[in-house]
Amino acid sequence: MSRRFEGAGAGVAAVEDASFEIDAHSRIALVGPSGSGKSTLLHLMAGLLDPSAGSVSWPALDEAGDGRPGAIAVVFQAPSLVPWLDAVENVMVPLLLQELAEKAARRQAEAALAALGLAEIGDKLPEELSGGEAQRVTVARAMAQKAKLLLADEPTGQLDQATAREVMSALVHAADRNRAALIVATHDPAVAAVLSVVWCMDHGRLAVEKRAVV
Ligand SMILES: Nc1ncnc2c1ncn2[C@@H]1O[C@H](COP(=O)(O)OP(=O)(O)OP(=O)(O)O)[C@@H](O)[C@H]1O
Ligand SMILES: [Mg+2]
Repeated sequence: MSRRFEGAGAGVAAVEDASFEIDAHSRIALVGPSGSGKSTLLHLMAGLLDPSAGSVSWPALDEAGDGRPGAIAVVFQAPSLVPWLDAVENVMVPLLLQELAEKAARRQAEAALAALGLAEIGDKLPEELSGGEAQRVTVARAMAQKAKLLLADEPTGQLDQATAREVMSALVHAADRNRAALIVATHDPAVAAVLSVVWCMDHGRLAVEKRAVV
């Protein structure tokens, strides 16, 4: 599939002829220079953006009756917390949209925050959080959804090395527990190193580098 952005001049081919399959065990690092198309590819995979050519489909998710929004969870690169909801409520939003009862949603949200070392900040508003804490709340929000496809766009960009390691291990653990595929766009080689396959993007072109599972 491909995606162009038209604008002034010739436009941009953000993703060109990307073709791949993903199974439930996939643990993929998506790397490449700024502007190479990583976020665009993740948004195409999530169905948040339509391809300009080709298509995206997830037959296994449909077969499992999981084609509802909860089957795919996204950690966005840009800040995406609702400013007037506290941290727990932010994590609860997609769970309530999936029609989980409020009590169960709160329990699930608190567990996801605790797994990321954020048990103490549940009642804080986004403006009261540090950049790294806010980023971990967005990771918790995606983890809490128990999705079958977990897409994370630079989830450790604002974190120190030790916290980044903890976040990555929480993401991998969540993917293992839910038998979900995990794809992480990152500039950090240490983050890429914990995943088993590396996809490199360059000017919208995708190259796959297989690696032995460590
Ligand atoms: N909504 C948009 N409208 C126009 N051009 C866009 C849009 N979104 C992305 N682009 C362009 O598409 C290309 C790929 O952008 P993308 O955000 O996917 O890159 P990226 O690899 O995620 O970069 P980064 O590492 O900086 O996050 C860039 O040239 C960008 O300017
Ligand atoms: Mg990006």
